[in-house]
Amino acid sequence: MKIYAIAVGLAAAVALSGSVNASPLDVRANNEGLSIDYKCVFRIMYQLIGYLNTGTAIGSAAQCSKSNAGDGYVAGAFALTTKYGTALAAIDEYKKSPKYNKEFDAFIPTLEKYNQTMSGSTEGLDKFCDAWTTAAKNEDAFYNAQIVTVRNLYGEPTVQVARSLFIRFPLTRAAMTNAAIVGGLDNKDSGLGAIIAATSAGFSKSVNGTSGNNVKAGSYLVDEFLWLDAFLDKWDKLSKGGSTATTKVYRGLLKAGFHRFSDTIAFTGLDNKPVSFTCIKLY
Ligand SMILES: *[C@@H]1O[C@H](CO)[C@@H](O)[C@H](O)[C@H]1NC(C)=O
Ligand SMILES: *[C@@H]1O[C@H](CO)[C@@H](O)[C@H](O)[C@H]1NC(C)=O
Repeated sequence: MKIYAIAVGLAAAVALSGSVNASPLDVRANNEGLSIDYKCVFRIMYQLIGYLNTGTAIGSAAQCSKSNAGDGYVAGAFALTTKYGTALAAIDEYKKSPKYNKEFDAFIPTLEKYNQTMSGSTEGLDKFCDAWTTAAKNEDAFYNAQIVTVRNLYGEPTVQVARSLFIRFPLTRAAMTNAAIVGGLDNKDSGLGAIIAATSAGFSKSVNGTSGNNVKAGSYLVDEFLWLDAFLDKWDKLSKGGSTATTKVYRGLLKAGFHRFSDTIAFTGLDNKPVSFTCIKLY
């Protein structure tokens, strides 16, 4: 179980600006010559990220517990929290479904208050996890709401950033999205912006490599695989080692050549057992 991600999960995810219209996983504009199945990328990426955030893949959509890091309650497949309003965002999404059965109505005013004040209080939320578990019986609708929320809050903004850097490979985008979910999008602490800035700053010249694609690192152009490797190092550094269990998995995928998420990915999991994800329908 990856306590760090749950503790810090979505911590910096507070103010998110602007909506993004582009299809979330479509980087085809930069992708001539690279054949990528975006449907499989979506499916495999969110299984992987869910797994790395909670220790289990899809099944964790029902999971809910009091945060041991003061984030209120932590719930769902991506360690959403009541403190940072991400659980509320998923509930708002779930409310749009005909399957919504008023499970959360009694909690919404409190959840809104705690989101506004970024409070990790659990007062008034005693039965919150009961509601979450009940809602999770509507597997498809509720998991869908969680994944849509994470994609809107982190996945889409990350795609825009990736595009601007000429990043092509789904593996790189998965690592970036994962970093954004754990540390936020911002250019501070271990937020995605801060990790990218540190990664760029680490290069003092252009470097070619084996990926066949060069990405922007400040004013240089650097092989995407080398860039990803540097990105993972900086993520570890800025998270003060908190991300190492996660980055180890991404390094393994990089080394083993799972760059495209087009079919199956396989790696040594958090408990050192083999894990694999295939292109299955998520909901
Ligand atoms: C949480 O609060 C922030 C800041 O006021 C707001 O922008 C955001 O929309 C709120 N989230 C939800 C899900 O209501
Ligand atoms: C990298 O490869 C390109 C294309 O072959 C070449 O133009 C460029 O000079 C190379 N850059 C370095 C730093 O070797």
